[in-house]
Amino acid sequence: MASISLRNVVKRYGHGAKANPVIHGVNAEIADGEFVVIVGPSGCGKSTLLRMVAGLEEISGGEIAIADRVVNQVEPADRDIAMVFQNYALYPHMSVFENMAYGLKIRKLPPEQIRARVDKAAGILELGHLLERRPRELSGGQRQRVAMGRAIVRDPQVFLFDEPLSNLDAKLRVQTRLEIQKLHRELGVTSLFVTHDQVEAMTLAQRIVVMNAGRMEQFGTPEEVYGRPATTFVASFIGSPAMNLLKGRAEADAAGARFVIGDVALPLPHPAPRTGDLILGLRPEHALPHDGQAVAADAADIASWPLRVEMVEMLGAERLVYGRLGDAAFTLRIDGTDTPPRPGDVVLLKAPAERLHWFDAATGQRVD
Ligand SMILES: Nc1ncnc2c1ncn2[C@@H]1O[C@H](COP(=O)(O)OP(=O)(O)O)[C@@H](O)[C@H]1O
Ligand SMILES: [Mg+2]
Repeated sequence: MASISLRNVVKRYGHGAKANPVIHGVNAEIADGEFVVIVGPSGCGKSTLLRMVAGLEEISGGEIAIADRVVNQVEPADRDIAMVFQNYALYPHMSVFENMAYGLKIRKLPPEQIRARVDKAAGILELGHLLERRPRELSGGQRQRVAMGRAIVRDPQVFLFDEPLSNLDAKLRVQTRLEIQKLHRELGVTSLFVTHDQVEAMTLAQRIVVMNAGRMEQFGTPEEVYGRPATTFVASFIGSPAMNLLKGRAEADAAGARFVIGDVALPLPHPAPRTGDLILGLRPEHALPHDGQAVAADAADIASWPLRVEMVEMLGAERLVYGRLGDAAFTLRIDGTDTPPRPGDVVLLKAPAERLHWFDAATGQRVD
């Protein structure tokens, strides 16, 4: 097992005037045995970063260290890592056993050791009864497990995963996600896992790197990136439906504190961290509808805002209520068993002070 250090890592494709920078200086310390997920939209540089750790892409600037050894110049085969891709590319003419054993055979391990390692991995992945089958006789989920088995038998210091679940249907994705968690619990191998899916990131990660356009926006636990997003990008990327982000102007005077959106002034329970242009964030699940009574009791920490309802969606366990606060679009999430409002209704929302997030209007950085 090993730690991974990314120190001001830069990647440019091409040279000279044609150079295209895609990673702009990423810093991260991944602890020995930690499971870290890199999440971000398509094209933000996730695979590039992972491939630099693997040694499949040259590093244009900065340093990558695995187990305290700088690996910038180290060949992929000498980095003691194993990688699992979205396209698992098994050898079609080989059995599951042979697919898993192949890399070890190449490295000339004695047959009884190969047997032992494959059996152990097959046990962990519940592939024991499938060892004699060919890949075409397996389901997509089973094939992906074989691909993971191939990585496990190598007993590497680091696992790298590049969107390994993207080709699976929704149900299998959830199941395989649980298997990867179990795998990490049992083996404790340092893992870097890339995905564009924030649910995968939240459920798998001990810590999450949120990337946007080649930059790291935040590196924190799932609780931190959800509870205290560092930027509006993280706020809108993590959580579904996304956090409501309202552009407006914070004011405070003798009459109280407000947030002004167009010609609507929303009262604030406490003044914003500063006055002037700001972005106010509130998650759909944290704005609760109320009947006007409940708020009076703890009015000091809760504001009441009128939401004009436009549309309601039933999702089963919950309903999404789409509406407007003044001109600004706002989504509210309510329990599926609650009586829903109707389009045209005005619903009063409770906006608890501790659930409000503030961001700089120009930079999108969190303001506390
Ligand atoms: N071999 C390459 N040559 C030039 N540009 C590349 C190459 N590979 C990736 N890119 C560019 O680098 C950026 C990041 O790509 P990638 O790391 O694959 O993103 P992600 O995995 O987050 O979807 C993209 O703009 C992509 O077009
Ligand atoms: Mg990719």
